[in-house]
Amino acid sequence: MDLDGVAARLGVPVEEIERVDRLAGDRPSAPLPDRDDVPELLERLAVRPDDAAGILAGWPSPQWTPELTWLLDRSTALVRADLGGHEWLPPGPELPGYFAYAYLALIPVVRQYHRDHGIPDTVSWATLADLGRNLAVDRRMRGEGWPVMQSWLTLHVRGGLYELGRLQHQRGDDAISLHIPEAGPLTPEAVDASLDEARAFFPRHFPDEHYTSFSCGSWLLDPQLREYLPEDSNIIRFQRRFELEPYEAPEGLDADVEVLRFGFRSLSTPLDELPRRTVLQRAIADHLRAGRHWQWRTGRFPF
Ligand SMILES: CC(C)(COP(=O)(O)OP(=O)(O)OC[C@H]1O[C@@H](n2cnc3c(N)ncnc32)[C@H](O)[C@@H]1OP(=O)(O)O)[C@@H](O)C(=O)NCCC(=O)NCCS
Repeated sequence: MDLDGVAARLGVPVEEIERVDRLAGDRPSAPLPDRDDVPELLERLAVRPDDAAGILAGWPSPQWTPELTWLLDRSTALVRADLGGHEWLPPGPELPGYFAYAYLALIPVVRQYHRDHGIPDTVSWATLADLGRNLAVDRRMRGEGWPVMQSWLTLHVRGGLYELGRLQHQRGDDAISLHIPEAGPLTPEAVDASLDEARAFFPRHFPDEHYTSFSCGSWLLDPQLREYLPEDSNIIRFQRRFELEPYEAPEGLDADVEVLRFGFRSLSTPLDELPRRTVLQRAIADHLRAGRHWQWRTGRFPF
C-alpha cells in the first residue's frame, strides 16, 4: 500500500497512516457485521435513531474509497491486536466517520473476550452501549467530540473497561480507574453501589489482577470547585472520597478545554455566550473570565 498516497487522499499526516500500518502489521482485521443485522445491533448499543440512520446511510460497501476501506480494515486490526489491553489507544487518524464501523466490527471479538472471562451479558451490553451515548454527545457537540471519543471507545472493544451501575471501571496495573458517564446525578448511593459491585467483579472475572485502589483523573477532582459548589453537591461529595496527588499539569490535556467539554458540550462557544443555567456553568465561565484556570486532578482511595 502506498502510505503517502493514502495519507494525501485522506488529508491526514502521513505519520498517522504509518503508525496504523506499523501497529496493525499483517494482523487479522475484524469483518463488518452483515448489514441486515445492524439495526438491531445499533439498538442494543443504545445508538439513537438519527445516528443509526447516519451509520446505515454511510455503510462502507460499496461507496467507500479504497483508502478509507484500507483504514477501516487496518484500524480494526490495530485495535484487535491489543485485545485485553487497557490503555487509551488512538485507533487511527482523527477522521470522523470510520471508527463507528470499526467498533461494530469489533463487537463479536470483544463479546468472545467477555465470554472467556465469564462477564455477564448485562454488563457486556451495558458497557458496549456507551457507543450510543458518545455518538449522541458528539452530535450535540457538532462533531467536536469525536477525536477523543474514538480513542476512548477502543477501551470498550478491547475488554479494558466495564460499566457497573453508575460508573465505568477501567482495568489497570494496581488501580481501577473510575470514569463518570453523563447519566444523571452522581449520587453517593449510586457511587457506593458501583464500587461494591467492582470489588466483587474484578476478583471474580480477572483473578490474576490484583487491585489495591480506585483512582480517577478528572476535572471533577479540582479543589477549586469548592469555591463555587455547595458542600452537599454530588461533585464535592465525590471529591471527598479521594486523596489527591500533588498537582502537575498533565501533558497534552488542557483542563480548561475539558471543563468546557463536560460543562457545556461545546469547545468553541465564546465565554460570554455560554449558557448560565447551573451553578457549575456560572462557575466555569466566571473562573475563566477572571483569568484563572481549571485543573485536571488525579486521586485515589483504597479498593
Ligand atoms: C458528574 C455529573 C454527573 C455530576 O452531576 P450532579 O450529580 O448533578 O452534580 P452536583 O450535584 O455536584 O451539581 C452541582 C451543580 O452543578 C450543576 N452541574 C453538575 N454537572 C453539570 C454539568 N456537567 N453541566 C452543567 N451543570 C452541571 C448541577 O446542575 C448543580 O447546579 P444547580 O444546583 O444550579 O442545578 C455531571 O457533571 C455530568 O454528567 N458530567 C458529564 C460527565 C463527566 O464530566 N464525567 C467526568 C469526565 S472526566
